[in-house]
Amino acid sequence: MTSRRQFIKKTSTAAFTLAAIPSALAWALRAAAPGSQANDSAIVVPDADGLILRSYRFRDLETPVEYFNTWLTPVPRFFVRNHMHQPTEFGSDSWKLTIGGEVVKPYTLGLNALAKLKSHTVVNTLECAGNGRSLHRPQVPGVQWGKGAVGTARFSGPRLADVLDRAGIKVSSKHVAFRGADEVPSNVPPFIRSIPIEKALDPDTLIATHMNGAPLNKNHGFPARALVPGWIGAASCKWLTEITVLDKEFVGNFMSPGYRLPNTPVKPGETVKPEDTHSVTSLVVKSVIASPGDGASLKLGKLSIHGAAWAGEDSISRVDVSTDGGTTWSEAELGSDEARYAWRLWKLDWKVAKPGAYTIMSRATDGHLRTQPAQAVWNPSGYLYNAVDQVTVHVS
Ligand code: MTE
Repeated sequence: MTSRRQFIKKTSTAAFTLAAIPSALAWALRAAAPGSQANDSAIVVPDADGLILRSYRFRDLETPVEYFNTWLTPVPRFFVRNHMHQPTEFGSDSWKLTIGGEVVKPYTLGLNALAKLKSHTVVNTLECAGNGRSLHRPQVPGVQWGKGAVGTARFSGPRLADVLDRAGIKVSSKHVAFRGADEVPSNVPPFIRSIPIEKALDPDTLIATHMNGAPLNKNHGFPARALVPGWIGAASCKWLTEITVLDKEFVGNFMSPGYRLPNTPVKPGETVKPEDTHSVTSLVVKSVIASPGDGASLKLGKLSIHGAAWAGEDSISRVDVSTDGGTTWSEAELGSDEARYAWRLWKLDWKVAKPGAYTIMSRATDGHLRTQPAQAVWNPSGYLYNAVDQVTVHVS
């Protein structure tokens, strides 16, 4: 079977260079008009191991769901989300991290000093809050992610708690703000976000310097990023240069209006007052079908349906799969690789005896028995899309 993506990949490798993409992007943006399927707008970037270009202005790359077949996502296949320009390369000597605010002894440390601190490892599924945004109906503005702004990696580096401990946090400490060294276009505020002190002091919250055993590359925050496991990707600030302990939540564009959800569901077009919103924190229960792909043509016989499921700070207790559009469900087998904040791979063998069109669905349930809804809760920014996943296949 040759999917549309494989076709684009085959034909585009020679034809596209990054420099040639802007004209192609205009076509892509037209193709991404409301109602079109997320992947209809896919441009595969030649130098990015098959990743899909979602925004050219700042590097935003999505992982095709068919790559969700390994527990750890190889770094070259890991999605990239940038709000602004990546910083000009730091030298290992020039990078500095300052720790200040509500602390007794503010200090600055370089990469060598950071590397001497005890390292801790966390396998984390990192998902962008806007993953699946293109699937909300009615559509909402913002990067039109399909299903692949998510990946799982082994992150290592010192615990944030250890770095804060050396500065001695005051009793007034309520939040910890991270600042990234993004190169900010004029009129755009810097990337600064804060997390509550309890999450900052959690032994699994890191200043990560390594991803899957290698130093972070530039796309993912070289030389150091925050790693706030189980929470939306925006909490994990890349190219970290400043940590400031605060006596309240940081006030700024990326905290409000950015990354907030209405306290109660709203209808499209309804006005939401800022005081009726809250900051998005943990990810929610979700599963994605990695294979077969949507629209695939398959042959009668034994087939395998597989994918990944995750639930932020919670575990996955089961994944159910339907091959008849949701009428009947069978429990999938969960993969043996597991870690507190990491996705579970799952699979179900499927014997198809009759030709026809089939709608396959996957539905995950977390450790608190919260199950993916049939329809995601619509919100004006299109965050946390987690409806039951589905693909349609043709069997002959
Ligand atoms: N950190 C900085 N400094 N600038 C950014 O634009 N994007 C955030 C987060 N950290 C961002 C950032 C968002 S929205 C996400 S989803 C994750 O980084 C993505 O991490 P990745 O690009 O390593 O996959």
